[in-house]
Amino acid sequence: MSEIHKPVLVKEVLEILTPKKDENLVDFTAGYGGHSKIILNLTGNSIDSYLIDRDSQAIDYLKNIAFKSEPVNIVKQDFYEASKDLFRKNKNFDIILVDLGVSSLHINDQARGFSFKQTGPLDMRMDQTQELDAEFILNKYPESKLRQILEEYGEEPKARYIAKSIILARPLKTTDDLARICAKAWPGHSKTNPATRTFQAIRIEVNQELKQLTESLPVWIKLLKPGGRLAVISFHSLEDRIVKKFFNENSGQRYDDKLLLLTKKPIIPDQTELVNNPRARSAKLRAVVKK
Ligand SMILES: C[S@@+](CC[C@H](N)C(=O)[O-])C[C@H]1O[C@@H](n2cnc3c(N)ncnc32)[C@H](O)[C@@H]1O
Repeated sequence: MSEIHKPVLVKEVLEILTPKKDENLVDFTAGYGGHSKIILNLTGNSIDSYLIDRDSQAIDYLKNIAFKSEPVNIVKQDFYEASKDLFRKNKNFDIILVDLGVSSLHINDQARGFSFKQTGPLDMRMDQTQELDAEFILNKYPESKLRQILEEYGEEPKARYIAKSIILARPLKTTDDLARICAKAWPGHSKTNPATRTFQAIRIEVNQELKQLTESLPVWIKLLKPGGRLAVISFHSLEDRIVKKFFNENSGQRYDDKLLLLTKKPIIPDQTELVNNPRARSAKLRAVVKK
């Protein structure tokens, strides 16, 4: 499993979530089961636990390999819909884990179109049954909307230029077509690849990542038992800002504040982890406990 996707901040996640015997878990971004395997081994309770992911490749792996013949509930669904379903079913959890973003498999499989480092189709869907993909966004969205996405989700200073170039280059067919436009916008050397921000922005739009997160956070709190812990790992500042704001707003001194902060500052990977898993470099962990 570790070759497919190395889980990040494992030691820190266990320290903050403190899984105990017979507690139940919902992992809303189960991926390849790295975190959930370790947590469920500690709780010894799979029956009332749930593993959710919207990627069918991840779900197949969880069902047929990682948790084959284990009595855990494995569901292919986006986490907002899954959260609402669990709430409707009156489910409550001791532990909720959310490890946002894409898996290594998404990035490494050029056919998924997430990476500007390899030629691939303009896809970027985590859920391959979803209609909206990067190709539609790049070839059909109006220039103003493209520019707004690049500004808001990519924090791209050259959003105006790149949006205009996309319109002029239509139809775009591959990740190379998009990466070339970004390279032209940023001639010369820069520390990060000039396509990083644009690819992030388009990926966020394809998967509605910030909307999913913003709308799910209040439901996750409802799903926690009193004393239940929620940990969220984010990989870029836009996600982290949403999590930080939500946790702070609900963990004050007001009588109806439902949370206590477990992390005043985000927890980040130590040097050893960064050496062993460069993908962890932007990971930030925040956690709360329900009063
Ligand atoms: C960083 S990986 C999780 C890896 C996992 N913790 C492990 O140890 O293997 C993120 C996973 O979350 C899934 N994902 C991201 N956003 C999602 C959403 N809104 N709903 C459901 N799954 C989502 C992705 O498909 C991906 O498999």
